[in-house]
Amino acid sequence: MNNYKITLLKGDGIGPEIVNQAVKVLDKAADKFGFAVTYDEALLGGCAIDATGVPLPEETVAKCKASDSVLLGAVGGPKWDNQPGNNRPEAGLLGIRGALGLFANLRPSVIFGPLKSASPIKDDIIGDNMDIMIVRELTGGIYFGERGRKEVDGQPAAWDTEQYTVSEVERIARVAFDLAMKRGKRVTSVDKANVLESSRLWRETVIRVSKEYPEVELNHMYVDNCAMQLVRNPKQFDVIVTSNIFGDILSDEASMIAGSIGMLASASLSGGKLGLYEPIHGSAPDIAGQNIANPLATILSVAMMLRYSLNQQEAAEAIEAAVAKVLETYRTPDIYEEGLQKVSCEEMGDLVCAQL
Ligand code: IPM
Ligand code: MG
Repeated sequence: MNNYKITLLKGDGIGPEIVNQAVKVLDKAADKFGFAVTYDEALLGGCAIDATGVPLPEETVAKCKASDSVLLGAVGGPKWDNQPGNNRPEAGLLGIRGALGLFANLRPSVIFGPLKSASPIKDDIIGDNMDIMIVRELTGGIYFGERGRKEVDGQPAAWDTEQYTVSEVERIARVAFDLAMKRGKRVTSVDKANVLESSRLWRETVIRVSKEYPEVELNHMYVDNCAMQLVRNPKQFDVIVTSNIFGDILSDEASMIAGSIGMLASASLSGGKLGLYEPIHGSAPDIAGQNIANPLATILSVAMMLRYSLNQQEAAEAIEAAVAKVLETYRTPDIYEEGLQKVSCEEMGDLVCAQL
């Protein structure tokens, strides 16, 4: 029997509550589909700062590297807002992405049928099966480029650098094209090639890689236009591939189109088996500890883990189907609609397990 080692990074705020529900669901899936899971926990973010002084202790990196996959809750909160930039909880998140070489961030934006009315976009614009996969480059670009302070014209100034190498663009482009081959065979590469040199290199490189995928239709869009097209006609997109910072921004926009950020999962992949899976939403410190958070994005992150790291397709699909079914009747407060039953974070976890 396969036995997978999973490192849990529960993190801050609602992180621990939602990860606990996702673990319940993963255990249930293991039972049902005949595999085993063993867990180890490690610190990341604010809780790591409190315990060790830094947001990403060495031990956390070592534990993650020694596991088959990593499940992350969320990090950050007002308590750590006064930390210097390089010691904030967010720096821990960037650090773990870099340390594990997680260069490809997959952020699916899908509408669950029963939640369609939660989208702020009109029904006829969303259609019945909006399904966008944003592939965000995650270990390069301006997030990881050189930065600093200097003096310009006698006053303080600051600078950051957007830089991409050809091989960084090639490998993220291949992830996007490979995914498109399993989906709608369309890739939109998003850049700002009318202004930025790094975008011109990005575009040239994506075009070159596209020759390896003659079946995939490639188009290019400037990021400002893409932001607009996402609300004008989201159905036109299949796979979007873009840089670290553009992907950060566009994926928040796409998640809103899907109705609730509380529903969306993500995967960060290294090219090997090791991946890190986490909900797209943050640590929601305002509702932490109240057992009212929505655990579904984390539960769906487990489904992505089963699909992309553990090669348990059937279990992944079963979890997604169970979530869709449970949503027909039960809702956490963030996605509550009249006439349905309001449930807690824990009850939601139990319901998904029962449905499985
Ligand atoms: C995300 C977040 C992070 C990012 C922050 C918390 C550093 O917004 O995962 O999208 O910008 O990558
Ligand atoms: Mg973001």
